[in-house]
Amino acid sequence: MKKQGGTMINKAKGTYDVLPNESFKWALLEEKARKLLTLFGYKEIRTPIFEYSEVFHRENEQSDMVTKETYDFFDKGDRQLTLRPEGTAGVIRSFVENKLYVQNHLSKLYYIGPNFRYERPQKGRFRQFMQFGVEAVGSNDPALDAEVIGLAYSFIKELGLKGVKVRINSLGDNDSRLAFKEALTNHFSPHSETLCSDCKHRLDKNPLRILDCKVDQKHEAVVNAPTPQDHLNAVSRAYFQSVLNYLDSADIVYEIAPKLVRGLDYYTHTVFEIEADIEGFGAQNVLGGGGRYQSLVKELGGPDLPGIGFAFGMERLLLAMEAEEIGFADESKPDVFMVAVGQQARIEAIKLLFEARRNQLVADMDFNGTNFKSQFKAALKSNAKYVFILGDDEINTKTVSIKNTETQEQEQVPSKIAIRTIRSRLGK
Ligand code: HAM
Repeated sequence: MKKQGGTMINKAKGTYDVLPNESFKWALLEEKARKLLTLFGYKEIRTPIFEYSEVFHRENEQSDMVTKETYDFFDKGDRQLTLRPEGTAGVIRSFVENKLYVQNHLSKLYYIGPNFRYERPQKGRFRQFMQFGVEAVGSNDPALDAEVIGLAYSFIKELGLKGVKVRINSLGDNDSRLAFKEALTNHFSPHSETLCSDCKHRLDKNPLRILDCKVDQKHEAVVNAPTPQDHLNAVSRAYFQSVLNYLDSADIVYEIAPKLVRGLDYYTHTVFEIEADIEGFGAQNVLGGGGRYQSLVKELGGPDLPGIGFAFGMERLLLAMEAEEIGFADESKPDVFMVAVGQQARIEAIKLLFEARRNQLVADMDFNGTNFKSQFKAALKSNAKYVFILGDDEINTKTVSIKNTETQEQEQVPSKIAIRTIRSRLGK
């Protein structure tokens, strides 16, 4: 066939479409998240997808995510803007700007939305991806760390995921972090010649980031590097122990991961990740992660308040569910589908269609259908539970034939009580 019109355009690299046969899973995942977050006392916050660049590009943030992977641009007014690569910084910017700390001692916030990172796409790694996350700002109580980790843990349980573990570590307070940083500098300096060029630079600026370098992952000096635990001072050690005690008390199963440092620079004290240990899941097995941050609120111009949070990657949650063969029930399948042949019958079908919906039944009909056969095929394809059949006989007798698609049983009832009949059959 000769091509007419324009050329088809593909989606941008690293992005994906959520098609109609998949979108209900996203809606259900969000619904489950919202329900659980409400149980835990979190309220939603919606911040812009883009922010002034300085929200993310801060002196103290030298992670790859911020130095290499952001989408930065100038708008027509020459403002320098960045598409958010994560949720935390924007939420804290809003927390400070709107002085949320005046209303409550502790703000428990959650968000669901897209983020953007210029990464090399692969299974479970996209350039636009969805996160749902929380930030609890305003308390230094280690019980809050346990609550936030417990929230992530509860969500995994709620989804029914089994091969998933919570890994936890502590980076300690600022002093402990500095001691750790110094130990890393001393440890890596003699190896600087054999480190990758990025890591040579990191050695000067931020040796912590050498630990999660993708290139030097197997370098002997990285494998044998000191761990944060060796450099925790007494206060940080006690804090961490207290978090663990609370986790035990809440029956949250975790393992201590001495090497875990996370890929962002704002963390202090508790850090944690939720990891999928599912066969064949692939390399991107970190479903979510987070931790405590002591200085971020202050760095973004706010008061000296600590925060703690985490974010789940929603694509990875869905992939993990798929890998464990956990399904979501598709609640969009019709309760009833109209099959109507002849003009009179179609007029009656439209009436019943709207009556069904007014009565909270999911109802549909075939708007392309001509003959009985094609309409009935459409009814079966929609997976409708019941089919209303309307032909000359039904119109003449003011009745509807109702077919149960599961049992194949068919009955003829007065059209006046047709909707009521379905409602009672469905227990609605
Ligand atoms: P993050 O570890 O950078 O932390 O991201 C959290 C989760 O988002 C990851 O575990 C992963 O599931 C998902 N994710 C990250 N990048 C991608 C990608 N390119 N494609 C698909 N999924 C991805 C944060 O973003 C912190 N803001 C979490 C936090 C909140 N810490 C404290 N509060």
